[in-house]
Amino acid sequence: MVYRDKKCVVLGVSGSVAVYKACDVASKLTQMGVAVRTVLTESAAKLVAPQLFRAITGIPASVTEFADDAESPMLHIDLAQTADLFLVAPASASTLGRLANGLADDLLSTAALVMDARTPKAIAPAMNPNMWAAPAVRANVEKLRGYGYEILGPDAGWTACGVPGSGRLVEPATLVSFARAKLGLS
Ligand SMILES: Cc1cc2nc3c(=O)[nH]c(=O)nc-3n(C[C@H](O)[C@H](O)[C@H](O)COP(=O)(O)O)c2cc1C
Repeated sequence: MVYRDKKCVVLGVSGSVAVYKACDVASKLTQMGVAVRTVLTESAAKLVAPQLFRAITGIPASVTEFADDAESPMLHIDLAQTADLFLVAPASASTLGRLANGLADDLLSTAALVMDARTPKAIAPAMNPNMWAAPAVRANVEKLRGYGYEILGPDAGWTACGVPGSGRLVEPATLVSFARAKLGLS
């Protein structure tokens, strides 16, 4: 497999309007010679087809491991074992909650729990400003920091729901620079 010989980013993509930016991140990392293994939530896969990530990265993108054609018999383990960086971008409020509370009810959250403690982990939230300000979300973010996740953004500005405020996914260039630094690439 190509990702065994390269630096590998496991890119978690959840159901946010900002999924289109994740495509750009996947593309730029791939152009840098990084192997990008994409894991989408079911909601994300309703907004953008896994096949697009496969086309961009040249590596199968997955939503579930309960499939006859799954890339590996226990994909959640395999993903964690190959990750040099675990990056969830965009992270929806729901996925933040799942990760903060140790749920393992989809491939993304299950793989997250298997990640080695030494693997850098980062989350880039994207949501409506009121969601981002909601006490439950704030509490989940603080929990995630405590679990060793770096929280990237969100940016303030215009959000897709038509409201200005804090909740925009950080720009792809910022995410790519972050990944480059974490992976030790010049
Ligand atoms: C078009 C569209 C855009 C959405 N954008 C966001 C978003 O940016 N952030 C968010 O937290 N939820 C957003 N949602 C709602 C989530 O998709 C929903 O809460 C879902 O349950 C998230 O599941 P997931 O975390 O498993 O992907 C959006 C829904 C739709 C239909």
